[in-house]
Amino acid sequence: MEIQSQLQSLCEKAEKDFKNAKNLDSWKELRVLYLGRKSEVQNSLKSLGKMPKEQRPQAGKLINEVRQKIEYFSEQSEDYLQQNQWDSLATEDALDITEPALPLAKGCAHVLMQVMEEVEDIFLSMGFDVFDGPEVETEENNFEGLNIPKDHPARDMQDTFWLNNGLLMRTHTSGVQVRSLKKLSPPFKGIAPGRVFRYEERDASHEHTFNQVECLLVDREVSITSLIGVVRTFLTCLFQKEVKVRTRPGYFPFVEPGLEFDFSCLLCKGKGCSACKQTGWIEFMGAGLVHPAVFKHAGLDPEEWQGFAFGFGLERLAMMRYGITDIRHFFGGDLRFMEQF
Ligand code: FA5
Repeated sequence: MEIQSQLQSLCEKAEKDFKNAKNLDSWKELRVLYLGRKSEVQNSLKSLGKMPKEQRPQAGKLINEVRQKIEYFSEQSEDYLQQNQWDSLATEDALDITEPALPLAKGCAHVLMQVMEEVEDIFLSMGFDVFDGPEVETEENNFEGLNIPKDHPARDMQDTFWLNNGLLMRTHTSGVQVRSLKKLSPPFKGIAPGRVFRYEERDASHEHTFNQVECLLVDREVSITSLIGVVRTFLTCLFQKEVKVRTRPGYFPFVEPGLEFDFSCLLCKGKGCSACKQTGWIEFMGAGLVHPAVFKHAGLDPEEWQGFAFGFGLERLAMMRYGITDIRHFFGGDLRFMEQF
């Protein structure tokens, strides 16, 4: 029978093709080709009606046998390709759970906060407490309690950001002096670190928002010598070497006498640069003995109590410590700068 040899070669070809199928996509195409509605097997089934009646049963049986065989080749091929796909997925996307994880980029404290912590530790080790005060301050604590009444020319020394409600952004940490003198009973000693704000032009050594550390010591007998001793000890601890410092008379209405402390500029080794405005010195802090008017204003007897106070700029200190030539780097937000510390 002619149909018999046709189906025989169809079956052999199908077996070969399903065996050689490369992937599930080509398998699907083969399935349509050999078992689909327009496949040779289906066409043969359809043409059964045209055959002589006596040949039909045998031919029908034959077609069904071939169809079953092709179904079998197709299933075998599918199983094989499916398994193959899982295997290659398993090798391509393999997870090695023993491989060490990639390092995570870790954040760290801002360099100013690191220096601030060191400063606090040094003063704590010298027996000082750490005081706190608000950034939004009253005129009374920022000025009047510090012997700077309204219309006093010293108010112009620190250009102020005024708020609509009569309060202000503190221009210095010295307001914490007034708060502590009113609240604590002497003797006491403490520092008050924090942010201050001034309506100022920015340049290499000036910011409108910067950090100060205030220091106040109140006792029965206090002298400039004790003030200088504390400053020296502090600077030696922080820099771990002798730092060249000079003092000069300074005017602050809340101390008498008043002093200014300057560093020899470590950035240019005193030769002059943009950070020190070509002077070779960087103004670092104001200081002095607490003015009797400040004690009186806080309700303390200036005949009984004496004190020293100083306030320095944390950014200027950090600039000297790390050789930073421009104060604007601290809040510039450049990660390349931050990541160095
Ligand atoms: C004061 O603010 C006084 N309250 C300091 C003081 C405290 C005097 C206690 C006496 C007794 P002055 O304005 O000089 O002082 O500022 C003190 C320090 O803050 C300066 O020496 C400097 O280190 C820093 N500083 C001042 N202005 C700026 C600024 N715009 N940017 C960065 N740092 C500044």
